Parts: sequence; structure tokens; C-alpha cells
Amino acid sequence: MTSISFIFLSLLLLRLITVTVESQPYTKNLTKNGVTLSPSGPYSYMASPTGEFAFGFLPLAADSSLFLLAIWFNKTSSTQPIIWFAKNSSDAAGPVLSPAGSKLRLTDTGELILASPTSQTIWNPGTRGATHVALVDHGDLLIYDDTELPLWQSFDFHTDTIVPGQSLGKVKFLQSKLTDSDFSPGRFKLEANKNGYLAFFLVVEPPDPTNEFYWSSNNKTGRHLVFNLSGLLYYELENNSSPFYISDYPFERYHQHATLDPDGVFRVYIYDKYLSDKGSWSVVRELPENACGTQVDVGSGMCGFNAYCIQSSNLEPPRLSCMCPQEYTFIDANRPYLGCRPNFALQNCSVDESTDFKFVEMKNTDWFGAGDYMHFVTSDESGCRTSCLIDCFCLVVIYRASNCWKKKLPLSNGRQGTYVGGKALVKVRISSGTSITNSSVGSFTNKNQSNLVIAGAIMLGISLLILISISIASLYLRRRKRDLESEQVDLSPMGMNMKNFSYKDLHDATKGFTEEVGRGSFGIVYKGILKLANHSVVIAVKKLDRLLKDGDREFANEVQSIGQIHHKNLVRLFGFCREGPHRILVYEYMSNGSLTNFISEATKLGWNRRAQIAIGVAQGLYYLHEGCCSQIIHCDIKPQNILLDDNLVPRISDFGLAKLIGVDQTRATTYNIRGTIGYFAPEWFKNTGITPKMDVYSFGVMLFEIVCCRSNIMQVDEEEIVLRYWAYDCFREGRINLLIQGDKEAEADIEGVERFLKVAIWCIQENPVIRPTMHKVTQMLEGAATIAPPPDPSIYISK
Ligand SMILES: *[C@@H]1O[C@H](CO)[C@@H](O)[C@H](O)[C@H]1NC(C)=O
Ligand SMILES: *[C@@H]1O[C@H](CO)[C@@H](O)[C@H](O)[C@H]1NC(C)=O
Ligand SMILES: *[C@@H]1O[C@H](CO)[C@@H](O)[C@H](O)[C@H]1NC(C)=O
Ligand SMILES: *[C@@H]1O[C@H](CO)[C@@H](O)[C@H](O)[C@H]1NC(C)=O
Ligand SMILES: *[C@@H]1O[C@H](CO)[C@@H](O)[C@H](O)[C@H]1NC(C)=O
Ligand SMILES: *[C@@H]1O[C@H](CO)[C@@H](O)[C@H](O)[C@H]1NC(C)=O
Ligand SMILES: *[C@@H]1O[C@H](CO)[C@@H](O)[C@H](O)[C@H]1NC(C)=O
Ligand SMILES: *[C@@H]1O[C@H](CO)[C@@H](O)[C@H](O)[C@H]1NC(C)=O
Repeated sequence: MTSISFIFLSLLLLRLITVTVESQPYTKNLTKNGVTLSPSGPYSYMASPTGEFAFGFLPLAADSSLFLLAIWFNKTSSTQPIIWFAKNSSDAAGPVLSPAGSKLRLTDTGELILASPTSQTIWNPGTRGATHVALVDHGDLLIYDDTELPLWQSFDFHTDTIVPGQSLGKVKFLQSKLTDSDFSPGRFKLEANKNGYLAFFLVVEPPDPTNEFYWSSNNKTGRHLVFNLSGLLYYELENNSSPFYISDYPFERYHQHATLDPDGVFRVYIYDKYLSDKGSWSVVRELPENACGTQVDVGSGMCGFNAYCIQSSNLEPPRLSCMCPQEYTFIDANRPYLGCRPNFALQNCSVDESTDFKFVEMKNTDWFGAGDYMHFVTSDESGCRTSCLIDCFCLVVIYRASNCWKKKLPLSNGRQGTYVGGKALVKVRISSGTSITNSSVGSFTNKNQSNLVIAGAIMLGISLLILISISIASLYLRRRKRDLESEQVDLSPMGMNMKNFSYKDLHDATKGFTEEVGRGSFGIVYKGILKLANHSVVIAVKKLDRLLKDGDREFANEVQSIGQIHHKNLVRLFGFCREGPHRILVYEYMSNGSLTNFISEATKLGWNRRAQIAIGVAQGLYYLHEGCCSQIIHCDIKPQNILLDDNLVPRISDFGLAKLIGVDQTRATTYNIRGTIGYFAPEWFKNTGITPKMDVYSFGVMLFEIVCCRSNIMQVDEEEIVLRYWAYDCFREGRINLLIQGDKEAEADIEGVERFLKVAIWCIQENPVIRPTMHKVTQMLEGAATIAPPPDPSIYISK
């Protein structure tokens, strides 16, 4: 909780910085003896030609009588990230802080000088003979002479961020800020190290001669970290090897910046330009990926000494979360990187205090390697506990897989997560009761600063809000679970159990298998009418034409289990027939046929109906993957296998058959089916295991068809165009109207269309790990989850 509060506070301070720009912008170049920029106006900043970036003064949150000289995004509504700020001359120096009456101007001699109210020079980039100063639209501040050559540019003087158009060469580095609101040099650096690897370092005093890094580009030696004006961020390698790619989001579509954040994670942030004032920044890439799990043997690790690190997915802005163990408190809650101290007196070695201590158990927690002074193997956890209790030097023991590690102060590289395993037993004094409440909240309110008190109040408000949303979310989840369960016990509309039909029954019902209604990958489907005691039912009878994998027992079992599966978006299986060579499945009949009939250009349903259908299919698939007793992977999601009932409710058919027929056979037969191939995930053809993410891919391909009402492979002027690639290009260029031209209903709901497209793009990511689960897909389609802008589907594989 402490660290979360801390982040809220920082966030609040950050906002204070960014929203209090009041005076008007200057919109031309600064020239000799021209206007002056000053925190006290009339111009406190200048804007780039389109207003995308601003350069000028921003009040400091901690002390609003001081101002930062900075460049920031000025058009992104939610927050306006600072991409550069002026620093004192030396590398290790802090930000230049100007009092209110300071003035920035280009002097007669062509020097850009920031002078204090008492006319002392506070900052001077060291140019002479400059004629003008321009801020260009990608955020670079340039000082020119009359030959139009830049004498100086801000892009060469890195702070913690790079933006498109900027690169980071050897010798240069990015250094994080100390905290989100403190612009002093922080604890982390990113640079090409002496071996040429792109590497992340912990900054320690005195400097660590071994230059040990906590992440590197893994022996890929190179020259430059480049963020080019197409929006591609990569580390350029030596000897023309293919670069190390970090992210690729089109510049024309997204504002973007990559920042080494105060927690030591390098994050790429993007903001959709087309959403202008409704947008928000989202993180699309993090390096290292699991920063809490990284290890560096100098200093305290990602968090402070004795603290531990949790990769938290829901902090805003996204940050690693550093926490203190129970009975420990941050030395300074505003500067959590200083670490945690125990709230109790340590064990006195002169007397026996072993009975005054107990253990606080923390699952999946460890301080990796740090402070270990004794290791032994014991199958008995109590042996491990006792050994620590009677040892006055022992502070924590780790017990994992019969290993016991005893640790002493200070603890570093602390982390918690399921990847850690085992448990940490933190030894605390028994009498140290109430100190927890004392520590975390107290440190904010004890300060005599009114804005901090307000911050505390707002923080409480935010925490309440979060609590409320969590409870709403859990209610919703519980309800969902109930929905799923109740659907499971829903009785068959015909009151029939799985029936074992005779061949003659079915022969009669279908009038000798005459009325063919479909041909699927597994056999031909006939319509039939089944006469029951007092009414008759229309059925679909599927004659399987494949050899089955393991004989009859398997068939009966599989069919029985398919018959158990009931969901409003799945076609019901009523019964089966196995007689002689015949293997037949009997389904409820879907009067409206398959989805194919409703998403062609000529015969399409209205957009809202199509959207409902897409959501229905997603729910059906979600149920197959996660809702019923054993996971079912469909393996053949495509419009032909989505049937519509009388009310145009979508029903997935043929589920469970891949297993029934045997996946390998299913695979073999799909190779040659034209028009089907496009639905298969790339890994389908690589003989890897079958995963639910394959269905997610197929669903994505189909989702494009549902949105655009065009076929997966379109014929345009005798050329075959793959819908999903075309759709992605349109999306990337912000021209989604091209995809739904003439569809008035869809045009009226362009936001909805965009949402569906984003989901579809997420689903067709070539890397299955990046694809969302069907659960996530349903949430995103329903608008219940926010959707990060999707990356180029092929980036992490092909490049
Ligand atoms: C500002 O300076 C830049 C670079 O010399 C030049 O291209 C631009 O036209 C100037 N803008 C104005 C408004 O003079
Ligand atoms: C910069 O942002 C401020 C505050 O949002 C706004 O008032 C101003 O108009 C913006 N300037 C430009 C040039 O867009
Ligand atoms: C230079 O940095 C130091 C340390 O951050 C700061 O105290 C000092 O005020 C800065 N100098 C100027 C001129 O801003
Ligand atoms: C590559 O990196 C590993 C550690 O990641 C190191 O042990 C190895 O020596 C490196 N190889 C070369 C050729 O530098
Ligand atoms: C950015 O890099 C990519 C790949 O090297 C290249 O195709 C593209 O043209 C570059 N963009 C610019 C504006 O240089
Ligand atoms: C690049 O080429 C140089 C000289 O040919 C060689 O010494 C070096 O090992 C090469 N680096 C890589 C990463 O292959
Ligand atoms: C430890 O116990 C001894 C004996 O009771 C006492 O004299 C000493 O002050 C204690 N040390 C600490 C640090 O409390
Ligand atoms: C709680 O904080 C107060 C004031 O900082 C201090 O006097 C008191 O000893 C603390 N209580 C505990 C149990 O640590």
C-alpha cells in the first residue's frame, strides 16, 4: 500500500507540473533582440509550428517558485510528458532551476542565455553567432546561425527520454529521474556499454568499476539506439547484422516517446493522434520485460535495500511496485528507493531473545543471493525456522525445495512473484504490534505542507474509488461465473438426453440422406425431421467421412462429453449413431444457415447485429476454452462453422471434432482446403502443440470479415488481397472509413468499429504469446476493458 500511495502522490505532483501552464505561447522563432521567454510572462513558452511540442518554463511541483526549462508534448490531453529539460553543465548534474523572474533570450552576440532576476547566467548552451532558435514539430530545439546550420540541438543532450527523430550514440546515455516528480539524476542509466551492448545499469556511488548491468541486448554489439521518423525504435548493430528491434508504431498515427522511468524500466509509450483530446498514453513495450526478476550484484537492486519488487499490472503510470515487508517501514516514503528499516529492535546477541521473535511468512518471495551467509538442505521447514530463531544474526530465512538460506542485513534484489517459488520467513519481534499503520500513512500527513495533506485526502479518495471498482469488478466476475454455470445446467429444449440413434432412424428422418445442407471439413450435413411422441424436431445430421483415431470406445466417450456442453452460443449435439461403418452426429438444426450468408457485401446484416454476433461467437469460444470442465480447442473457427439460429444468435458448430478425429488428421486435411488456410495461425503449420491461441487467431481473421463484410481473401482487379493485411494498413494510416465504405450504420459508430479492429489486430499477432485470451477478447469487444494500441502483427517474429 505504501508504494502505491507513493505513486499516486507522484502522479498528482506530476499533474501539478503539467497543467499549470497558463500564459500564452510564442509561435515564431526566437531571434536576436526578439522576445524573451520568462516564467512570469508574457510568453512562458514557445510552440512548434503545429503546436505539438512546447519549449519553455514549467513550475516545479515541489516548489512552485522554481521553474524547469523543458520541452514537452503539448497536444496530448491526459498528461503532457516532458521529453527534455535543461541540466547544469556536468553529466551528473541536476536540472536547471529558475526563479520566477528569470529570462531566456538570444543576445546581440548570438548566445542563448537564461539569466536569473539578478541577471546572473543560470544556463547557457554555449553558442555564439546564432541568429535564431527554432522548435521543430518532432520536438527538437535547434539553435541556428545564418548559414542555416544548427550550432546546437536539444536532441544531442539526452535526459531520460528519446523520441522519433532522435538517436543515442556511444558515450551518450539516458538517465532516469530520481522519482516521477524529482528531476535530479536518478538511479538508472541506459547506454551502449564498453563492449557495445545496449545495457541498463544501476548507478552507484562510488561508480562500480565492473559496470555490471541488469539487462543487456545479449551480446548484440552495436553503435546507436535509433528512434527513426517512421516510428521504428531499434538498436543498430555492427557488421550489418539485422538490428535489435524494440518497437514499431507508425509515427504518422501515434505520438510516442521511450523513457527510462525512475523505476529502471525503459518503456515505450504511445498516444493515438486521432483521438486527440480523448486519448491516453499507453505502454507498448518494456525493457527488461520482468524487471523485478533481474539481478545486479551491486547496490540494492531495482528497489531499495530490504524492500521487494512486484511487477504490478495496474499502476498508473505503470511502475514497478516496491514494498516493505511487514514490520518494516520506508526510511522515507517520498523516496522509497532508500529502502526499508525494521520497526523493531534487532535481536540482542548478548542475551537469549529467541522466544521474543516470530516469523511473518511471505510466499513466492526472495532476496536473491543477497545477504546469504549460510545454506543447508533440510526436508523440514521447522528446522529452517529454528536455526534462524536462535541465531541473532539471522533476519530472514528462505525455504524453497528443501533448501534453507539464512540472510543478514541488508537485503537486496528483493522480489515477489509466482516465478520465484518457495517462501521467505521474515523474523520480527513479537511485541512490535501497531507500527504498520504508523509507518505508511503517517509519513505523508506528518509533513507541514498543505498540498501534501490534500494529496493524502485525494489519495484516500482514489483508493476508495479503486476499492469500489474492485468490488464492482468482482461482483461482475462472480455474476459472469454464475452465468456460465447456469448455462451449463440449462436443460435441453427438447428434453432429450444424448441419444444413441439407429442408422434406420436417421435414414428415415433424412429421407435417405437426400437434403444436403452443408459440407464441412469432416463430412456432409443433411437436414432431417425427427418425429417424437407429440411433436417433431428438425435436425442436422452430420455423416463423418473420416477414420476415427482410437476406435469405438473413444468415439462414444468423446461424443458423450461433447453432448454435455451447453451454451447459448454453441450448437447442441442431440445424439449420435455408430452402427457398422457409420459414424453420425445429430445436431439441432439452425434455420438461418452459416454466417457466410450474412457478411458478404451484397447480403450483409446491419453493423449492430454483426457486432452482437461477433460478441456471441467470442463468448462461445471463451466458454469452450475456459468455461466448461475440460478445455476444448476448436481448431477450425471460420464463418462456415458459425451458424445462426432463428433469432440470428450465433452458434459455433463442430467443436470437439478436432479431438474426435485426431488433431494430426485435422491438420493434414486442412492443408489443401482453399479458402480455409487463411484462418489458421502461423504455428498451426509448424507441428507445435495445439493451443487456445490458435482459435484466437482464427477468430481475429473472422472478425475482420465480420467488420468489413469482405472475404478473407479478396479479389481486386484479378489480384488477391489478404483482408487482414489491408485492414491493418488502413488502421495504421487512420483510414478505417475505407473498410466500411457505404455501411451507414457502421460509419455512425466509428469508435465501435475501431474497437473491433483493434481487437482483431491483437488476435492475429504472429506471436501467440501476445494474442489475448478469449476472455480478454470478450471484455475488449464489450468495451469492458481498455485496449492498448495493437502492434504490427508481424513485428516480433519476422524482424
Ligand atoms: C524558424 O527557423 C526554421 C529553421 O531555420 C525555419 O525553417 C522556419 O521557417 C522558421 N520559422 C519562422 C516562422 O520563421
Ligand atoms: C499547449 O497546452 C496548453 C494547455 O493545455 C494549451 O492551453 C495551449 O493552447 C497549447 N498550445 C498550443 C500551441 O497548442
Ligand atoms: C545545478 O544543480 C544543482 C544540483 O542539482 C542545483 O542545486 C543547482 O541549483 C543547479 N544550478 C543551477 C544554476 O540551477
Ligand atoms: C554472451 O553473454 C553471456 C552472458 O549473457 C556471456 O557469458 C558470454 O561470455 C557472452 N559471449 C560473448 C562472446 O561475449
Ligand atoms: C526507419 O527505419 C526503417 C527500417 O530501417 C526504414 O524502412 C524506414 O525508411 C526508416 N524511416 C525513416 C524516416 O528513415
Ligand atoms: C564485426 O566485425 C569485426 C571485424 O571484422 C569483428 O572483429 C567483430 O567480431 C564482428 N562483430 C560481430 C558482432 O560479429
Ligand atoms: C543487550 O542486552 C544486554 C544485557 O541485557 C544489555 O546490556 C544491552 O544494552 C543490550 N543491547 C542492546 C543493543 O539493547
Ligand atoms: C508511531 O509514531 C510516533 C510518532 O512518530 C512515535 O512516537 C511512536 O513511537 C510510533 N509508534 C510505534 C509503535 O512505532
